[in-house]
Amino acid sequence: EAGRLAGLWHAAGVLSDGLLRAQTASTLRRVYAPKVHGAWGLQLACAAAPLDACVLFSSIASLIGGGGQSNYGAANGCLDSLGVCRRQRGQAASSVQWGPWADVGMAASSSVNARIQASGMGLIGLEQGATAFRAALLPGAPALLSLVVLSWGKFLSFMPAVPPLLQGFSSHRRPFAAVGDASERRVVTLEMIMESLESTIGTGVDADAPLMEAGLDSLGAVELGNQLQQESGMTLPSTLIFDYPTARQLAGYFKEEADKANGTGDAAVGDGLAPKAAVNLEAQVNACGVSIMLPHGMNSAAMVRHMSASSGDVIAEVPPERWSLEGAEQLGELIGRRVRHGGFVHAAEMFDNARFSVSPAEAAAMDPQQRLLMEYGYEAFHGAGLDKAALNNTLTGIFVGIAQQDWSDVVKNSTMGRSVYAATGASLSIAAGRISFVLGLQGPCCSYDTACSAALAANHAALRALQLNECSSALMIGVGTVLMPGVGITFATAGMTSAKGH
Ligand SMILES: NC(=O)c1ccc[n+]([C@@H]2O[C@H](COP(=O)([O-])OP(=O)(O)OC[C@H]3O[C@@H](n4cnc5c(N)ncnc54)[C@H](OP(=O)(O)O)[C@@H]3O)[C@@H](O)[C@H]2O)c1
Repeated sequence: EAGRLAGLWHAAGVLSDGLLRAQTASTLRRVYAPKVHGAWGLQLACAAAPLDACVLFSSIASLIGGGGQSNYGAANGCLDSLGVCRRQRGQAASSVQWGPWADVGMAASSSVNARIQASGMGLIGLEQGATAFRAALLPGAPALLSLVVLSWGKFLSFMPAVPPLLQGFSSHRRPFAAVGDASERRVVTLEMIMESLESTIGTGVDADAPLMEAGLDSLGAVELGNQLQQESGMTLPSTLIFDYPTARQLAGYFKEEADKANGTGDAAVGDGLAPKAAVNLEAQVNACGVSIMLPHGMNSAAMVRHMSASSGDVIAEVPPERWSLEGAEQLGELIGRRVRHGGFVHAAEMFDNARFSVSPAEAAAMDPQQRLLMEYGYEAFHGAGLDKAALNNTLTGIFVGIAQQDWSDVVKNSTMGRSVYAATGASLSIAAGRISFVLGLQGPCCSYDTACSAALAANHAALRALQLNECSSALMIGVGTVLMPGVGITFATAGMTSAKGH
C-alpha cells in the first residue's frame, strides 16, 4: 500500500473570457487544455488505480453559464461528465461546481469581485470552501455538487426570463425592468454612470478617462451596458460603451436621447445642423483661432513674426539624437551635404492621451502626426473660444494636409507592427477622422496628400466647404514630420534639397 496513489484533485484551469463573437479556436484550446485534455490524461493514467477520492474542481459556469465564459462553461461541463462517468464505472469521483472564491484564485481581483457581486452572486470564503470540499470527500457525496452564494432576487432580476432550472427560485425575483418603452424611460445622469462604473470596475474612475484604460474589460462593458439598460429603461446599442468611451460621453449620449424624447434636442446626430445660409463662393472667411508648432520651438504667431522680421533661421543640422549621419559621405560629397539639414520640432513625442480618451497602447502605435493634429487642432479651436462641449455634435469640418508616411516604416520594423492599433495608427485618412471622432464633430473630414502642397490643398478645401455651406466652421491644419533619414536621402539624391540646407 505504501506509495499507492490514493487520491486525486484536479484543480488546473485557466480563463480566456470574451464575448462569443470574440471566441476563437485558440481561446477554446487554451481553456480546454488543462480542464478537458489534462483531466482526461489523468483519467487514462489512473484508470486502473483504485482511488479512495477524486475531486474535480469544476465551476458554476457549467451549470448556469457566465458572461463571456462559453468556452469555460463547456470545459467544466466536460469535467462534470468525467466525474459522472467515473461514478458509473464504480470509481470514486465528485465534481464540485464552485461559485467564485473571495480571497484566492482566479476570481480574486477586486474588479472581478465587484462585478460578480453586482450581478447578485456572493463570494465563497475560505471556511465555506473548506466545508464544501470536505463534503465532496464523503463516501456518500453525489457525483456532482454545486456551491454558489446567491442573492436570488438580485441575480434573477437581471434575467429577462428565468430559465426552467432556476424557476423554483423565481418567487424571489425582483421585476425585470422592461426596456424599449419610451414612457418608462429614465434619464441616466453622470453620477449614476459613475456609480455603475464603480460597482463594475471596483474603483472610482475619472469622468473623462477612457473606460477600457480604467479597467473596464469587454465583459465589464457588457455588464455596464446591462446596468445602464436597466437604469434607463431603453434598448441600448451593444456598441454603446465603445462608441462613447468615457463616462462623460456616455452621460452626453443619455442627455441627447432624453432631449430627443422630449422634443427639445436635435432629432438625430447631425440633424438640424445644416447651415441655413445660401451658397456664396465669394464669402470671406475669418480665422478665429491659430496654433503653431514649427521647428526650433516656434510655437506662436508672434514668435514666427519675430523670427521672420529678424531673418532668423530654423533649419539646423540633424541632431544626433534623431538619427546618425555616419556613412553620409558614402552617398557622395554633394548628396552627403544635402542630407545633413532639416527643421526639427521639439517634444513631438509628447502627447496628452487622456485628454482625448486615447489609451496609452493606442497612443504608442499612433503616428506622431496624428497626435500633433489632435493637440494642435484642439488648441486652434480653443483659441477660437470653442471647447469640447461647444464643439460636440456640431457641423464642423476637418481638413488636413498630410503627406509624410515615415510612421508606416517605423511600425513595420518594430513590435508595434503587431498592435491592433497599427493599421489605424499609420493611416493618413484616419488622421483627419480621428480629430472629428475625439471631438464628436459631424462635419466633413478629409486628409489631403498632394505632397508639399498638402496644407494648401486642405486650406482650399476648407474654404470651399465653408462657402458651399457644407459646414458652419472648419479646422484647416497641416502636419509633416520626418522620422527617419530615408526621405531626406531620396530628396537629396533627386536634387530636391540644398547642400546648404536652404
Ligand atoms: N477561484 C474561483 O473562484 C473558482 C471558481 C470556480 C471554479 N474554479 C476552478 O478551481 C480550479 C482552481 O482555481 P484557482 O482559482 O485556484 O485558479 P488559479 O489560481 O488560476 O490556478 C489554476 C492552476 O491551474 C494551472 N494550470 C493552468 N493551465 C494549465 C495547463 N495547461 N496545464 C497544467 N496546469 C495548468 C495553473 O498552473 P500555473 O500556475 O503553473 O500556471 C494554476 O496552478 C480551477 O480549475 C478553476 O476552474 C475556481
